Amino acid sequence: MMDSLEEIARLVSRCADCDLHRGRTNAVPGEGAADAELMFIGEGPGSQEDLQGRPFVGPAGRFLDELLASIGLRRDRVFIANMVKCRPPQNRDPLPAEIGACSKYLNRQIELINPRLIVTLGRFSLARFFPGESISRARGRLRERDGRRIYPVMHPAAALYRQEMRSAIVEDFQRIPTILEEARRQPALQPEPVVEETPPPEQMSLF
Ligand code: URA
Ligand code: SF4
Repeated sequence: MMDSLEEIARLVSRCADCDLHRGRTNAVPGEGAADAELMFIGEGPGSQEDLQGRPFVGPAGRFLDELLASIGLRRDRVFIANMVKCRPPQNRDPLPAEIGACSKYLNRQIELINPRLIVTLGRFSLARFFPGESISRARGRLRERDGRRIYPVMHPAAALYRQEMRSAIVEDFQRIPTILEEARRQPALQPEPVVEETPPPEQMSLF
């Protein structure tokens, strides 16, 4: 089970483990290179993503493509995923229960891709690694967590129309090639397996 990215995408497309499945047109499992050195984690699908079943294909996605191009990267060389795979109604924030129900997919994607560097986009994926930290403090600083290199940046949708934030995210992206280069030179970290919270076992009956 969940032995490949394709298998995860199949499971996600049929998933009904939280209420977000009710409003979706298409689930958005994420996409990119299975052997990507660099993985981006956003928040959740918006309306274009829901219609197309692909991550970051609306206005925020065009900005992300620009940011990638500015550092010589194409989206098919990286992997792009989200915290939740189905669109929250009216683009509201995903609820803790929805993030919790969906985390098994992202956790396994991270394990299978095993990227050298994870770039978190915005506060929800930041909280996946550093709960309670503010994005304005955390952004643009490389960190380690559970044996993984994490580089938090702002969400491109938040930065799109605000000049100050826009300069900040552009600046933070400019540092990615150097961070990646340094990560390549260092020995691989030893990622810790993610321990899923499992529900209590059913009461066993002897009869
Ligand atoms: N915003 C996100 O966080 N993810 C997407 O896929 C699109 C917009
Ligand atoms: Fe399943 Fe995640 Fe979609 Fe919820 S958001 S239905 S957990 S795939």
